Amino acid sequence: MKAIVLAGGTGSRLYPLTQISSKQLQAVFDKPMIYYPLTVLIASGVSELCIISTPADLPRYRQLLGDGSQWGVVIQYREQARPEGIAQAFLIAADFVGSDDVILMLGDNIFSGGDDFPRAVSGFQGGATIFAYHVKDPERYGVVEFDKSGRAISIEEKPTIPKSSYAVPGVYIYDHSVVDIAKAVKPSARGELEITAVNLEYLRRGTLQVRRLSRGFAWLDAGTSTALHEASSYIEAIERRQGVKIGCPEEAALTRGFLTIKQFEKLITRMPQCEYSEYLSNVSDEWHRLNEGQE
Ligand code: TTP
Repeated sequence: MKAIVLAGGTGSRLYPLTQISSKQLQAVFDKPMIYYPLTVLIASGVSELCIISTPADLPRYRQLLGDGSQWGVVIQYREQARPEGIAQAFLIAADFVGSDDVILMLGDNIFSGGDDFPRAVSGFQGGATIFAYHVKDPERYGVVEFDKSGRAISIEEKPTIPKSSYAVPGVYIYDHSVVDIAKAVKPSARGELEITAVNLEYLRRGTLQVRRLSRGFAWLDAGTSTALHEASSYIEAIERRQGVKIGCPEEAALTRGFLTIKQFEKLITRMPQCEYSEYLSNVSDEWHRLNEGQE
């Protein structure tokens, strides 16, 4: 399984913040927003990643994330000249996807809790798997309607009158036929290649699986200043209470075995003295405690 992180767009709702930095590089409490989706992907065992962003912002992502080797993964980059829709990601990264399965994540989606994504990735058997999450304001999203047996029967993009309270979060798993499906999608009334059109094609073929995310699971949107502030507060509260970080790619890479403990410790030595590096040192101490005698 490969992964694409879509981190372009205009971020107009975060103006003036997005005048100087891409939305997905803004801080969500103590780390850049894109760390959160990247951590989900690494924790799901995905090590081949492609980041898509605007020509203006891409150099910043390269500066932050490099080739991924510091985390034991491979990161490639592709430009999206204009924000012409989420499904365009598959046209831009068609060569990257090749004949593999692929998971697409939106760079401004923040998740916390549960192992729904790693399980969906390891259990993926072709077609498409998307998720459904109960929200108060479904009309802002793609909305899934289920029949009595719990099977998805329709998906509507930003409907005026939603048929359910289940919105589709920005995580989509597809087999390689997604590239051809995306190529056949026509721009919508708002001029975008809609991801809902791709999902509808899988639904039509009878190969779309929609998994409901559990109640305890948090899906945070960071698209407006208020939502960004709330996401930071939420992450801060959980991290302070539990003493564990959400969205820490280094920790996920160690846990997944993408980094050895030696590589992990070397990474810490290259960081300044700060709360983040102190946390990683604690993770390393904990690793030694748990693995005593096995080193
Ligand atoms: P949106 O939040 O819908 O759009 P935006 O980021 O441009 O923000 P705004 O509405 O405030 O102008 O996009 C959802 C995510 O998908 C976000 O991470 C940006 C990304 N995206 C792209 O990278 N390219 C695109 O063409 C589109 C439509 C979205």
